[in-house]
Amino acid sequence: MSDEQHDTIDALSSENRTFAPSDDFKATSLVVDTSLYDEANTNDEAFWARQATELVDWEQEFDTVLDWQLPDAKWFEGGTLNVSYNCLDRHVAAGRGDKVAFHWEGEPGDKRTITYQALLDEVSQFANVLKGLGVKKGDRVNIYLPMIPEAAVAMLACARIGAPHSVVFGGFSSQSLSDRINDAEAKVLITADGGYRRGEVFPLKPAADEACESTPSIEHVVVVRRGGNDVTMVDGRDVWYHELMEGASTDCPAEPMEAEHLLFLLYTSGTTGKPKGIMHTTGGYLTHVTYTHKYVFDLQPETDVFWCTADVGWITGHSYIVYGPLSNGCTQVMYEGVPNYPANDRFWEIVEEYGVTIFYTAPTAIRTFMKWGADEPAKHDLSSLRLIGTVGEPINPEAWMWYHEHIGGGRCPIVDTWWQTETGGIMISPLPGATTTKPGSATFPLPGVSTELVDDDANVVPVGGGYLTLTRPWPGMLRGIWGDPERYQETYWSRFPDRYFAGDGAKLDDDGYLWLLGRVDDVMNVSGHRISTTEVESALVSHPSVAEAAVVGANDPTTGQAVFAYVILRGGADTDEATLRAHVAEEIGAIARPKRVFITPDLPKTRSGKIMRRLLRDVAEGRNIGDTTTLADASIVDELQAKAAESTAD
Ligand code: WT7
Repeated sequence: MSDEQHDTIDALSSENRTFAPSDDFKATSLVVDTSLYDEANTNDEAFWARQATELVDWEQEFDTVLDWQLPDAKWFEGGTLNVSYNCLDRHVAAGRGDKVAFHWEGEPGDKRTITYQALLDEVSQFANVLKGLGVKKGDRVNIYLPMIPEAAVAMLACARIGAPHSVVFGGFSSQSLSDRINDAEAKVLITADGGYRRGEVFPLKPAADEACESTPSIEHVVVVRRGGNDVTMVDGRDVWYHELMEGASTDCPAEPMEAEHLLFLLYTSGTTGKPKGIMHTTGGYLTHVTYTHKYVFDLQPETDVFWCTADVGWITGHSYIVYGPLSNGCTQVMYEGVPNYPANDRFWEIVEEYGVTIFYTAPTAIRTFMKWGADEPAKHDLSSLRLIGTVGEPINPEAWMWYHEHIGGGRCPIVDTWWQTETGGIMISPLPGATTTKPGSATFPLPGVSTELVDDDANVVPVGGGYLTLTRPWPGMLRGIWGDPERYQETYWSRFPDRYFAGDGAKLDDDGYLWLLGRVDDVMNVSGHRISTTEVESALVSHPSVAEAAVVGANDPTTGQAVFAYVILRGGADTDEATLRAHVAEEIGAIARPKRVFITPDLPKTRSGKIMRRLLRDVAEGRNIGDTTTLADASIVDELQAKAAESTAD
């Protein structure tokens, strides 16, 4: 590292295993060389314009590719299109109406097969229903549903009539829901009586009712019957989905929207702060998700069965369950419930049953599968899989290897995809037929995407650790924060001049591979060394007894911060603190040796599965824990606090 570059992040670990795409995979792959990269490097706007023209149907051709006045981007101006038309009508018109759009499976085991024609009909009917409830172009509609097909129907119906949707994850509280409804001033809320989770019905309607006590903008609540649980229907406000749909016409022509028309809001809080309504618009977003879904997943639309395990309440569900896959006309699996109902092999049973070929999930899920053991996937025939992917967090190299071996059968390329709610679609990822992967690296920015690492003074970092920035606008980028343009500029475009700052640290190795190192707020400072939590966690997970690890820097009188680690063991494994401390020192150096390692049965996570390091830091520093309502399981914090209290540091 040169003198000008410091105060970023030290690069400690090195991973030398490489995996080139097999000849078998390459034989049918869409991209096996650098041609897309070369084209995009020559002229990225022309590249995106070609994707927009080839992958998307426009009612009116656009006349400008990009109007960029930092931080405001306008893509494909002059163009008009309808997203729901692109996801449905064009496939039916091309004779693919009988093709399955969704193999949906409920948690109790009930199933629905929904063709493109059936989906088009239901979306058209529901679009008419929304119109009947007074929803017009530009009106916001809130969606608070379980993982049932009606969630996709509702989103597409909104898109059909130009009413921006705001989906709130069904696991969020009534307070989170009312905050989001009020911020968006939504007119209609679409919810369900309840949904299935871990073998039981979790009620949604009571939370929706509570939220609506303080949401003056809501005129109607549409209720899907799913859980069969008792609900109270408020006269004049609440209406049953199935009753409205009975009389609704399937004739509802898709209205062309301007390219920059608001398609949806999606609220993100990250792990701290007041939720931000991230704005995504029509033409650029659809281009970005269609393009990335096609090339990152190397889609063969005639034969692939795609399964993204995310919830539609997150951006991953928006981009890679609803908009990207449907725009590409592919067949998907959609599953309502948890991976361990009725048993720990439910996902693998589903892969076998539907012959899933492409599987996309989160590292947190993979580490949970590691904890449950390789016997679970081994009970099923997973030979249909040909490509597997991850998103949401850095994947530890050993978790990558486990995924490769036990899910991918040693034959499937892995696409580790880096992106954010704000980026709309995948930004950094291998192209599976062209990229030699390294376990734990998201590899390179996709064709059309430009990244650079910088240090604190915005100097470019060619090798080593730095802050991840995006140097060019991209079609799927957020267009702002709803109602707060200053916060938009401040949050994303102010830290480094002329750059989008993602908030993540990363490092570039000698071969130019990118390694994501987690949020920069999580970087620890130990005796002046800036150490990424991700690297220490990966060192811990590389021990054969460890399934998952969370690392934080806690205040320390001598070193500034000290490394505290919380570790979940693999099923049946045993080890102790001293062994794990020594293991980290050996793997990545004595400077990163944890001061303490706590073995724990569980870790505090956000609803989307990200480890809440802020909370662990509070525990490590002996502070009382404040608000834990966004935690997946708040009780784990008490347990960790008890452990910390009874321990004496060495
Ligand atoms: C943050 C964005 C993108 C959809 C799900 C999360 C982290 C995401 C990766 C990856 C390392 C990753 C980053 C990013 N992240 N993917 N492949 N490797 N880190 O969306 O909730 O907006 O979170 O997730 O820290 O900034 P999100």
